[in-house]
This record gives sequence, C-alpha cells and structure tokens, in this order.
Amino acid sequence: MFLGVTAARSFEPNYDEAKIPQYQLPDTLASSDGASITSSQQWESVGRPATLKLFQDHVYGVSPDPVQQNVTVQGKVVSRKDDALGGRAIRRDIDVTVTHNNASLTMQMLVYTPASSQGPVPTFLGLNFQGNHSVDPDPAIRIPDSWMRNRNNGTTDGNRAIEAGRGVAADRWPIETIVGRGYGLATIYYGDIDPDQDDGFQNGIHGLFADWNASADPQTRWGSIAGWAFGLSRALDFLETDAQVDARNVIVIGHSRLGKTALWAGATDPRFAMVISNDSGCGGAALSRRAFGETVGRINQSFPHWFNDRFQDYNENESALPVDQHQLLALIAPRPLCVASATEDRWADPHGEFLSCVHASPVYRLYGVSGIGLASDSVDMPSPEQPLQYGHISYHLRIGKHDLAEYDWLRYLDFADKHLMKR
Ligand code: GCU
Repeated sequence: MFLGVTAARSFEPNYDEAKIPQYQLPDTLASSDGASITSSQQWESVGRPATLKLFQDHVYGVSPDPVQQNVTVQGKVVSRKDDALGGRAIRRDIDVTVTHNNASLTMQMLVYTPASSQGPVPTFLGLNFQGNHSVDPDPAIRIPDSWMRNRNNGTTDGNRAIEAGRGVAADRWPIETIVGRGYGLATIYYGDIDPDQDDGFQNGIHGLFADWNASADPQTRWGSIAGWAFGLSRALDFLETDAQVDARNVIVIGHSRLGKTALWAGATDPRFAMVISNDSGCGGAALSRRAFGETVGRINQSFPHWFNDRFQDYNENESALPVDQHQLLALIAPRPLCVASATEDRWADPHGEFLSCVHASPVYRLYGVSGIGLASDSVDMPSPEQPLQYGHISYHLRIGKHDLAEYDWLRYLDFADKHLMKR
C-alpha cells in the first residue's frame, strides 16, 4: 500500500534479478575483532549487543530506556463485552496510559480473548493502520481521536477517523478464526503511539520525551518505527499484568511498515515470544543491498521520519551500511519468527525477504535449532503457497497483492501451534 506520499524525484525501481548489484553481506557471526562467534553464549554476550547497537546507530535510532526514564504504564478497562462475536469472544476496550515526568500518552487497546478459555491465553499483539473500529464493525468500538493519514476511501476527514471506517479492515483481522484456535488478539491504532508524519519530535510518544530527545545525538535519535515499537513494548508491560493474557506467549505481528515495526520490537524486546513480519520489505525483512523494488534512498525520501537521520548516509550507498536486514532477523533468535511475502508485492522484494531468513539461520543454529531449513540453511526459495515451516523460521509466499490475508494468518496460527501452545 502506498499511502499518498509523492516523491520529489523520479525513481525507477529495479525488478530485474540480473541487474542486482554485486554485494557481500556482513557476516552475522563475525565479532568486531574479526573472530567468529561459535556459541549462543558468545552471541548473547558479544554479537547480539553489538549488532543491536549497529541497528540503533545506523537505522532505527536509539529509544529511551523505560527504566532509566522512570516510565510507568497503567491500564484501565473502559468497556467489556462478554458475548462479542456471537458469544465466541470476550472483548475489552482498554486505555493503556504511558507516563513520563508527569506527562502521559494514552493508547486505546482492543483485546479479544476466547469466551471459552479457562485461563490466560497466548495472544497476538499487532498495530493497525485505520483505527480499532476498522477491525470489526461493532458500533461499540471507539473511534480513535489521534491524527490519521487522510485516505481517499471516505474513512477519514481532516486527518481524523470517522464512522465510515467501521469494519473496513476486518479482512486483515480474522478475529473469529484467531479466538477459535484458542488465541487472543490485542490491537492498537498505530497513530495513538506516534503520528505517521514528519513532525519534528513534537507529538505522540516522541513528544513525551522532550528532554531526552533534546539531549540525544540528532544523528541517532529514534524514528517513528522505533517509537511504534516502544509503544508495543509498553503494551506488553500492561499485558504482563492482565490475567486473561499469557504474557510469556505474546506474538508481535505487523504488516508492511508495521511489519518493520514488529521486527524491531521483537529485536529490542526479548519478551516477545514470537515475531511476525508480513510483507515488511525495505527497512524490514528485505536485504537492503539487493536494492530490488524499494531502496534505502527511496524510503528515506518518502518517509524520512521512520528511521534515524544517519540512515540517510546509505541512500544509493547500501554497501556502506555496517549491517543488513538478515542481522535484524538474527536478533530474534532462537524465538520462532515468521516472514511472509506476496507474489505481486515486488516493491517489498520477496526474494530478498526469503534470503534474509536464510542468512539469519546460522544464529538459530547456535542455539541448537534450525532456522529456515531442516538439515541445512541452503534452501531454495519456495514456490508460491508452499510454506517452509520446518525450523524456527517460517517463510511463505502468498499468491496475490501486498496485504495481510487470511491465508497468512492460517500459516501464523499453524506455526504458533507448533511452537507456543505446546510449551
Ligand atoms: C509504502 C512504503 C513501504 C511500506 C508501505 C506500507 O509502500 O514504501 O516501505 O511498507 O508503504 O507500510 O504500507
């Protein structure tokens, strides 16, 4: 989905594998002194923190530390319906308030849990694009009052969501299927955390940390992806206190820019038990060095606020990046990870997303589990709708366009059943 940002310069994406520049990926298992990392202990003490820092410094930016900054999180149930979805689910609408230095920000979180569940359930946590009221047409669901990108489908007016948006994203959120399989679903409108615009750190979660932003290095300050991921972690802080959610089994999921966000949330917060990147593309699962479809230069031109300022240094200069996106996936090891692409979504470079999984796999092997393959990491790109779900990394290529479809959810549910429900 391209949401109304017009590029100033013309840009011709490359869609030809033969025209991909020669590139060499940074070695995930090389430590800064050149020695090779050979154990999970070494990865956790040396490789992982160094890799995380490279992503903070060169790509997403550094977020405030919630402990050092005395951040507190409180939840208040605003409404509850015990017979939602024809009696299949309990639906709660919860205000989750993040406080720092007497200032606060409230995210509205919609939580569905199976009506039949006897205790805390593993739960998907994902941000949505169009407001909580877009995931289900029930008129009782609140409409967000935070800033929203204007859309030309009649669901916004003056950068605010309106009634007409009820249920418009229901196809992306098959709630009955999710609760029917024994899982919960928690969702938040991403604009409740940070408005998706270049606002110079004034609003949303960035605005809550004005002093901290002022003292931070302007080159490495947190962008919006880091802000949304920070909000996901604060949502998890609340879910840890919620009796209906099994907080040790929270699965962070996101589509597109919110898939990039889910990956960064999973990389920075090891409490997320499983991570799902749906069609996340450039700045998400796709390898930057392939420069196939959307490139670093192009994404920084269209959406400069998503990343830190230093990321601009790599516009048309991907080979100078000290990291590539397979290392982002490696930061999630050994937790189960799903990466998915769609055949018509060449902008997000499906092959580059798959290759990232392949090159992240050696870190999974350090933990004695396999990544994308079973016996080895050299696996061929699978055919459409032939999911690879052998190891701890799942990859599938759906037939169709850039979207989050029921087909994708069914793969994620299968993978979660395999890795989480049996814990
Ligand atoms: C644009 C952008 C992508 C992004 C997508 C989305 O297409 O170029 O990087 O993933 O929007 O979030 O829908």
